[in-house]
Amino acid sequence: MKERIGIGLMGLGVVAGQVVEVLKGKADVLARQVGCPVELVKVKVVEADLKRPRAKALGDLVTVDEDEFFETPGMDIVVEAIGGEKPALDYLKRAISSGRHVVTSNKEVVAKHTAELLALAKKNDVGLRCEAAVGGGIPLLSPFQYDLVANDIGGIYAIINGTTNYILTSMDIEGVEFEEALKQAQALGYAEADPENDIEGIDAAYKLSILASLAFKVEVKPQDIYREGISRLDSHDFRYARELGYAIKLLAIARQDNGSIEVRVHPAFVDESSFLAKVDGVYNAVLAEGDLVDKVMFSGQGAGPLPTSSAVVADVTAAARDIYLGVGNRGIWVLNPDKKVKPMEEVETRYYFRMNIADKSGVLAKVSTVFGQNDISISSAIQQETDDSTGTAEIVIMTHLAKEKAVRRALEGLKSLDVVNEVNNLIRVEIE
Ligand code: HSE
Repeated sequence: MKERIGIGLMGLGVVAGQVVEVLKGKADVLARQVGCPVELVKVKVVEADLKRPRAKALGDLVTVDEDEFFETPGMDIVVEAIGGEKPALDYLKRAISSGRHVVTSNKEVVAKHTAELLALAKKNDVGLRCEAAVGGGIPLLSPFQYDLVANDIGGIYAIINGTTNYILTSMDIEGVEFEEALKQAQALGYAEADPENDIEGIDAAYKLSILASLAFKVEVKPQDIYREGISRLDSHDFRYARELGYAIKLLAIARQDNGSIEVRVHPAFVDESSFLAKVDGVYNAVLAEGDLVDKVMFSGQGAGPLPTSSAVVADVTAAARDIYLGVGNRGIWVLNPDKKVKPMEEVETRYYFRMNIADKSGVLAKVSTVFGQNDISISSAIQQETDDSTGTAEIVIMTHLAKEKAVRRALEGLKSLDVVNEVNNLIRVEIE
């Protein structure tokens, strides 16, 4: 039996700093759970970190030298909290190849290299754990690996990016436009100075890739995920959504259908009486549907040092327990190569179209002909705003279920009509 489990930590940002605090502050509890003490044995930082008080407080435990870090004796688990693809990928591979279990909060590297990292971990009989990578402190990956494993998961509907949820909530409640809401989010420290990863849905796609891979037991690469960001939304869309009984959320959706899966991240209309519509601000939530459990919901804080450290330390504890018991790796994450990702063109849902048209006779007939020619059935139409000075009007058309392929053809047809000045937005309707 081991007398001590040694932890090597890579990175010393706010999350890693909090992990250090928890490992120290809760050492007794963790030792009881694991069976022996769990101790930090080395911390790898970059030169710039050396000036930070938290690096100074760690004294000799800190090194900038990669070889010194990996050659530290008694290091059983490597916690990677650097973020990004490189050099994190090389560090994770080196840690696994040298027989260390790894824990990471890095969604990008796991999403982009799931199969490769899992194969390497299997070969070395160590665990790859990344609970903190998706939904911060919300227990999400572990339930899909263990508690829900007997379920055939039909679908996952997730709000897994707090920054965009904060922006959409401000646009909805305060009626502000996207740029203003983004500035507010930046001022409050939710959105980064370069907000592209969040607002274009890239961060959510990495997280969906990991969630879908665990839920459907298949590798889902980030580039397989259809993705649209939130910057095209404006106050008109929020007004119409509320009038029709919906909230607008950036949803990450994964659904299983006859052996293929659909994976997409885009703004969506969500019934305002549903739980997801009420998840506001920086909060995250995931709704999963299983054949045995029916619907289950997870929600909480998807970011921040305290919640994220909760997930990291939980993974450290699970890995430490495996090492203490000498059982290799008990983590279950198996990939089934048979399932295919459904092309976006084949996805079927309902749609909201908002467009600016000429305000004269016969226009609605022309517009509805385009829908009819593409076999898309209209469920309702609203025309409220007319501008007498320009002779234009704004209309909203809601459709019944339609295939994406048909909707894209209709979009081209509408754009080619001389009476359609602009198709301002097209939003999918997902939760009803
Ligand atoms: N940028 C992410 C978010 C937090 O806004 O949810 C880290 O995953």
